[in-house]
Amino acid sequence: MFDKNIYIRRRRTLLEKMAETAPEGKRGIALFIGNVEAAAQYKNNAYKFRQDSSWLYYFGLDEPRLAAIIDLDNGEETLFADDVEIEDIIWMGPQPSVASKAAEVGIANSASYGTLNILATKALAQGRPIHFLPPTRYYNTMKLAALTGLGNEAVSKVAPMAAEGGRHASEELVKAVISMRLVKEDCEIKQLDDAGALGQEMHTVARNAVKIGILEQEIVGKMEGVTLSKGWGVSFPTILTQHGEILHNHVHDKRIEPGKLLVIDAGAENNMHYASDFTRTLPTGGKFTQKQREIYQIVCDCNELAFKLTKPGVAYRDVHLAAAKLMLDGLRSLDLVRGDLDNMVDAGIAGLFQPHGLGHNIGLDVHDMEDLGEDLVGYDPDQKRSDQLGLGSLRMARKLVPGHFISNEPGIYFIPALIEKWKSEKTDKGFVNYQKLERYYDFGGIRLEDDVLVTEDGARLTGPNRLPIQPDDVEMSMA
Ligand code: GLY
Ligand code: MN
Repeated sequence: MFDKNIYIRRRRTLLEKMAETAPEGKRGIALFIGNVEAAAQYKNNAYKFRQDSSWLYYFGLDEPRLAAIIDLDNGEETLFADDVEIEDIIWMGPQPSVASKAAEVGIANSASYGTLNILATKALAQGRPIHFLPPTRYYNTMKLAALTGLGNEAVSKVAPMAAEGGRHASEELVKAVISMRLVKEDCEIKQLDDAGALGQEMHTVARNAVKIGILEQEIVGKMEGVTLSKGWGVSFPTILTQHGEILHNHVHDKRIEPGKLLVIDAGAENNMHYASDFTRTLPTGGKFTQKQREIYQIVCDCNELAFKLTKPGVAYRDVHLAAAKLMLDGLRSLDLVRGDLDNMVDAGIAGLFQPHGLGHNIGLDVHDMEDLGEDLVGYDPDQKRSDQLGLGSLRMARKLVPGHFISNEPGIYFIPALIEKWKSEKTDKGFVNYQKLERYYDFGGIRLEDDVLVTEDGARLTGPNRLPIQPDDVEMSMA
């Protein structure tokens, strides 16, 4: 945990932000629910516990079955949890009291978990607004529905409290939380660098383990062992595949074959639950073919350009578009597309090759705060999300400010089914050279991803040792 003053300060800032949303006496309460254990096969065999990220940000306590109420009118804070009984002590050992847990993070009042509904019912009876974040886990959805008297769908819907009598999750609270979590504090940047170091170590171990004939799974095991031995685990299910054209391929059952491209997209979650997310694409035999190298170099150049353009004052949407233009330029030099670059960018042709966004926020979640709503997290109020393939998947479009922490992850993929669909529906408006493209149907995909902190005067890559990215350096590191 961070020092308790960090949590106290964050909650005070949240209180101030929420004070701007309504006059005193009309603000109501903010209700936070931490995660509970989730049974895997049966109750006593649960998945590894992962606390809710917004809970971690404001309350730090990393254990199940906690809740809190902040009275937005008088600032009073209450932690809800249960003191352990002898039955729990037998199985879990002695545990600190609820009051001492509350004191650990600077909360004055505590009460049993079961009394949460008394406070919620009282607030409802008094007609006070109850602000809460949209839940992800089913338990929290049902718990919030029970506490507020709303349905499961209503508690997941985010809208301003003035709408529909406030019978939904609070857009005001969501926006206040996003405004704070989006800009990383120094103590968080240290954690993100730590997660970065761990992620880079994972990738180095993986690269050294690549060998013709072994199973992809063997590399995954060695790589994940790195973070399991030092951190909490992986920050998302590992992608390690010779079918990189399948963007989120979590199947690792193939043997490493010569002449293929191996996409490794993996990151660590450190013990403070901060994430890293790196992707490298390796030639399985240690050397790129000419055809692979040509495409690889385009992606590599896009990665470098994205980093160069990532700085305060620039909208990340424009970084995505600049990388798309460079990508199309490279593909045009290989005669895979033909035409005016700006017209191709406008027509969204890059989406055929990179049907995902250039990057996303990273923090306590690898796609930070996606649970709070992608558009509210990643788009400024004056930005509208595109419906084009690729650009429409951009999770971070905002104008960058110091403290934003993002991934830059350009990629080129040859997805036969998508190419055939575009061809038959003439989506490409004549820009795509399908005859040449057919020769790439068995190519696979390439993605290259680094994690980047926006600083006062530019940006810096995070993690101490950038993974080899230029093709010569990659080959040398595999020699
Ligand atoms: N690295 C996985 C993703 O960003 O979706
Ligand atoms: Mn990513």
